[in-house]
Amino acid sequence: MGKDVIIACDFASGEETLKFLDIFTEEKPFVKIGMELFYAEGPSIVREIKKRGHKIFLDLKLHDIPNTVKKAMSVLSNLDVDMCNVHAAGTIKMMEGALGGLTRPDGTRPLLIAVTQLTSTDQERMESDILIEKPLEEVVMAYAENAKKAGLDGVVCSPLESEKVHSVCGKGFLTVTPGIRFEGGDVGDQVRITTPAKAKEIGSDYIVVGRPITAAEDPVAAYRKCVAEFIG
Ligand code: C5P
Repeated sequence: MGKDVIIACDFASGEETLKFLDIFTEEKPFVKIGMELFYAEGPSIVREIKKRGHKIFLDLKLHDIPNTVKKAMSVLSNLDVDMCNVHAAGTIKMMEGALGGLTRPDGTRPLLIAVTQLTSTDQERMESDILIEKPLEEVVMAYAENAKKAGLDGVVCSPLESEKVHSVCGKGFLTVTPGIRFEGGDVGDQVRITTPAKAKEIGSDYIVVGRPITAAEDPVAAYRKCVAEFIG
């Protein structure tokens, strides 16, 4: 899989999600399904979207003991998703378990990426609540290296961290980056943002775009603009 734009389908119901996807008559965008939709609708929504020909990033951010994560991942692997994720904080052993669970008997598997530190966690919260006293960027890079050691394919990170992750973990290690906004667009609650064109320049492998597409007056045009800027 090469560079791609992933639409964050942050809708509360399957009905709303499918209605949204119906407007894409010419292309089949890669879609991200998060916890809200998956917990509301269960595996059937994944199967339905897959059946319609979309690639799926199932964003469930697993974090539990290695054996539990391994078993959960083998269920997700049977669902035939294309990308899923875990928290790097679950340890290298947990990430190895996840990878083992995801790998199908024929050796194929979805891409597996790790969340390093959530962008909602800042330096202050990390020190006071998680008791990690190192600089946030150092922690993100160390977690990315752990993910690489465990054999994962990449990390979710801020587009502004893509370059550093690639320099630490190598160019082939994927960076999947949310926090994307068009030049002059509504920022919403995102803080560290960048445009699709800038994300391309910095070297992001996948951009995850929600509201700039889902809340646009013409979502198909907004998606095409993202693709044109990011992939060219
Ligand atoms: O609407 P917006 O483009 O901000 O959506 C970004 C998507 O990426 C949302 O689904 C959000 O939960 C997700 N995300 C994020 N920051 C992270 C990890 C995931 O914005 N660090």
